[in-house]
Amino acid sequence: MEKKTILVLTGSPRKGGNSDMMAEAFIEGATSVGHEVLRFDAGRNTVNGCRACGACWAKGSACVFEDGFTELAPLLAKADVLVLSTPLYWFNFPSQLKAAVDKMNAFLKPVCPTPLKIKESVLMVCAHDTDDDLFDGIDRTYLQMVHYLKLKDRGSLGVRGISNKGDVVSTGALEKARDIGRSI
Ligand SMILES: Cc1cc2nc3c(=O)[nH]c(=O)nc-3n(C[C@H](O)[C@H](O)[C@H](O)COP(=O)(O)O)c2cc1C
Repeated sequence: MEKKTILVLTGSPRKGGNSDMMAEAFIEGATSVGHEVLRFDAGRNTVNGCRACGACWAKGSACVFEDGFTELAPLLAKADVLVLSTPLYWFNFPSQLKAAVDKMNAFLKPVCPTPLKIKESVLMVCAHDTDDDLFDGIDRTYLQMVHYLKLKDRGSLGVRGISNKGDVVSTGALEKARDIGRSI
């Protein structure tokens, strides 16, 4: 099996919560079959929103402003696979994770010296409510990203009806996340 570099981006500000546990189960599966896993906890980091200054790469790094993206950008450049593991916030990504995604714009600029080589992606999302259409917003956003970046979607996992830390354990989602990790 081809060894891949997988970047796991987590979205929760809550350490050890449900989406962190899904990320960890995925990582366990992926490392068990020999992939390299990089992790960036966007939900607890300091990536600010893109300011649309248009100065990406002007000072050598992806963004001219110093924030968490200074650490994230080299990880994005190395990754073959992008995994988003996140709680649902207002039907979509938490703003911390969205800020990190927004700043990926730097990699689309012609001046980018290290264009993205990400070819595959995974979305894992958890939420409190149980409505059938709960994940429509985030799924649509994710699938638009997949289409725009010409990625292969390697699986989505949506877990409804969980709120407290650890609720995910009894849902069977951790086993599914581990299996997705193994299947990459
Ligand atoms: C700011 C905020 C917004 C949220 N928005 C939603 C929502 O739109 N729909 C929903 O079902 N749950 C929502 N939730 C609940 C979380 O998605 C849910 O508790 C999840 O399991 C938390 O995951 P975590 O343990 O990884 O942080 C929200 C929670 C917070 C704090």
